[in-house]
Amino acid sequence: MKILEKQILSDDRGTRVIRMKIFSKDIPLKAKAGQFIVLMANEYGERIPLTIVDKGEQDITIIFQEAGLTTKLLGKLNVGDSLYALVGPLGHPTEIENYGKVILVAGGVGIAEIYPVAKSMREAGNRVVIVLGARTKGLLILENELKNVSDEFYITTDDGSYVRKGFTTDILAELLKKDKYDLVYAVGPIPMMQKVAQVAQDFKVKTVVSLNALMVDGTGMCGCCRVSVAGQTKFSCVDGPEFDAAQLNWEELAKRNKIYSEQEKHICRLNIK
Ligand SMILES: Cc1cc2nc3c(=O)[nH]c(=O)nc-3n(C[C@H](O)[C@H](O)[C@H](O)COP(=O)(O)OP(=O)(O)OC[C@H]3O[C@@H](n4cnc5c(N)ncnc54)[C@H](O)[C@@H]3O)c2cc1C
Ligand code: FES
Repeated sequence: MKILEKQILSDDRGTRVIRMKIFSKDIPLKAKAGQFIVLMANEYGERIPLTIVDKGEQDITIIFQEAGLTTKLLGKLNVGDSLYALVGPLGHPTEIENYGKVILVAGGVGIAEIYPVAKSMREAGNRVVIVLGARTKGLLILENELKNVSDEFYITTDDGSYVRKGFTTDILAELLKKDKYDLVYAVGPIPMMQKVAQVAQDFKVKTVVSLNALMVDGTGMCGCCRVSVAGQTKFSCVDGPEFDAAQLNWEELAKRNKIYSEQEKHICRLNIK
């Protein structure tokens, strides 16, 4: 669990996105696109889920945004330091097959999460169209890496500071108007995924979303990550994290993800250095 490499991918007024390569003998043997790990940065820390973005023979790569306490603790670790705990691969892998033409939409740090999916979809023979959205140019990550695993590539920024001003869903609607696609896949902030689902539904294209539901154990025991899909309760960690967007109860998901927002604002009183 030693950190082998660390790279700052972006820094927006102190909120950084960091890539880390971590030593692991076992996880790379089984990890597939769409799966995640749960880690503890130190012995007093909480458990947080992060996507396995890439893997080598004896390492995995994670990319995370310093969003709050634990990701900031993680960001303080350096090459040579070790994580306290790491478990994975967790969750179902993405269903990779030759669908034909797929559009992958990613926003914010979801851009990192889309990388392994894009790579695997391309290897399976799909025509891969990627649409990335960032709030501003400085927050855009992995541009070249994703260009290299796509057949068509689009970028939008909310403030117009890079390429095209607007939202990923503007481009998605234009693409779906012009041509027929077989699958839309989205990962990013909940409002973005919900809008992607609405647009794709208008064109009757199947849409899969990868959810960032709150998770604790990641193995189906605590119930924290529960979501409603087609009126049934599912656990995002063991039944997902990917679900059919058309069947998802988006309002419930958005509400549940804000459940601890007050507590997240407080300074944690645990003895965390
Ligand atoms: C399957 C999955 C894969 C993910 N992959 C990535 C990734 O590759 N890169 C990345 O930057 N982020 C990813 N996330 C989100 C990441 O887990 C949160 O950013 C992280 O937990 C924030 O913790 P914190 O203590 O730093 O921030 P906090 O201040 O505690 O929380 C900030 C926000 O992060 C989310 N969050 C907090 N705790 C959890 C938790 N235990 N589980 C899920 N979300 C939480 C909430 O939306 C919260 O408002 C993923 C989440 C899931 C469920
Ligand atoms: S995180 Fe506990 S059941 Fe899914």
